[in-house]
Amino acid sequence: MPDTYKNIIVTGGCGFIGSNFVHYVVNNHPEVHVTVLDKLTYAGNEENIAGLPEDKVELVVGDICDKKLLDEIMPGHDAIVHYAAESHNDNSIVDPEPFLHTNVEGTYCLLEACKKYDVRYHHVSTDEVYGDLALDDPARFTEETPYNPSSPYSSTKAASDLLVRAWTRTYDLKTTISNCSNNYGPYQHIEKFIPRQITNIICGVKPKLYGDGLNVRDWIHTEDHSSAVWTILTKGKIGETYLIGADGEKNNIDVLHAILRGMGKDEDEFDWVKDRPGHDRRYAIDSAKLRRELGWKPQYTDFEGGLAKTIQWYRDNEAWWRPVKEATEAKYAKVGQ
Ligand code: NAD
Ligand code: DAU
Repeated sequence: MPDTYKNIIVTGGCGFIGSNFVHYVVNNHPEVHVTVLDKLTYAGNEENIAGLPEDKVELVVGDICDKKLLDEIMPGHDAIVHYAAESHNDNSIVDPEPFLHTNVEGTYCLLEACKKYDVRYHHVSTDEVYGDLALDDPARFTEETPYNPSSPYSSTKAASDLLVRAWTRTYDLKTTISNCSNNYGPYQHIEKFIPRQITNIICGVKPKLYGDGLNVRDWIHTEDHSSAVWTILTKGKIGETYLIGADGEKNNIDVLHAILRGMGKDEDEFDWVKDRPGHDRRYAIDSAKLRRELGWKPQYTDFEGGLAKTIQWYRDNEAWWRPVKEATEAKYAKVGQ
């Protein structure tokens, strides 16, 4: 495996996690040129990569399902890191179709392009492909856990992982897969749990908690996700899957209490709302393989400190999220959440 690459494509590089990876590469690996391929859906924002040097980062606005465009941009690139996806569970419950298009068909198109142009491929996936765990189960997900997705979103991510495995075995594609837990940090779309509650409080609206609030997510800072993906891209063994996590299990009500405290509110200043249909109970990642075999470890393990900085970022960057707040909340209002 090479120590680095000359020209990489990052799909979804204007989204929350993809844009963090673009910054990570520019800041830490100045020898790399990044072509961002992004359709700029409602979740993509050019601002997320604004100000990066033009000789290091080029944005191509387009759909990963556009085979003609892929024929134009793939030659000359030595690796592709595939982040682009429809990523929000609640949206997938209301309208699954775009998830099939981007997550399944889009992955197929990229795999075919990598086959044609002999490009190294890294697939960014989620722990949700494994389904959920009971609250009292001592187990965590490992690379051997059977796939058992619950939602339209996670089933399309699982389907995309399986395409990668099949293309690797059948066509000898040079691939790796990573499955990461819940990310938090700046630039996350305000439809997601943590930024939705922070921006609600800034707007004088009470945060909204689903169900009984006891669902557990395994939080990791997006900077740690980026360093893990770079490690796998450069040191990972071809054909392997690596789970990415930072031992950050917390239930939703504890996270919400921390946000309320951090923003000077009482812990009971929130609304209970209707639960998400099919709501996964608990995710938990065992990332021992990635740490043991590739020497990666997370750096941003102080969750309360990371949350405080994230809250400050949303306070300082109202111009980034304010224009989409009303429409985001209108979607939730329609489904009673
Ligand atoms: P996001 O919704 O913030 O960003 C997705 C990006 O993909 C956007 O910039 C969007 O414009 C782009 N995109 C969507 N459809 C496209 C298409 N057809 N062609 C080109 N670009 C398209 O998502 P995110 O939260 O940053 O997640 C990125 C990836 O990481 C996804 O694959 C997701 O499954 C995975 N992941 C996310 C988390 C998390 O906690 N958010 C955790 C583990 C894995
Ligand atoms: O585990 C990785 C996954 O994490 C990624 O694959 C997904 O792309 C990402 O969106 C995230 O999925 P979740 O469904 O876990 O994240 P979300 O932010 O939507 O919700 C986190 C938890 O908070 C979940 O238990 C539902 C709950 N929730 C969410 C919202 C938006 C609430 O209680 N209230 C809310 O308003």
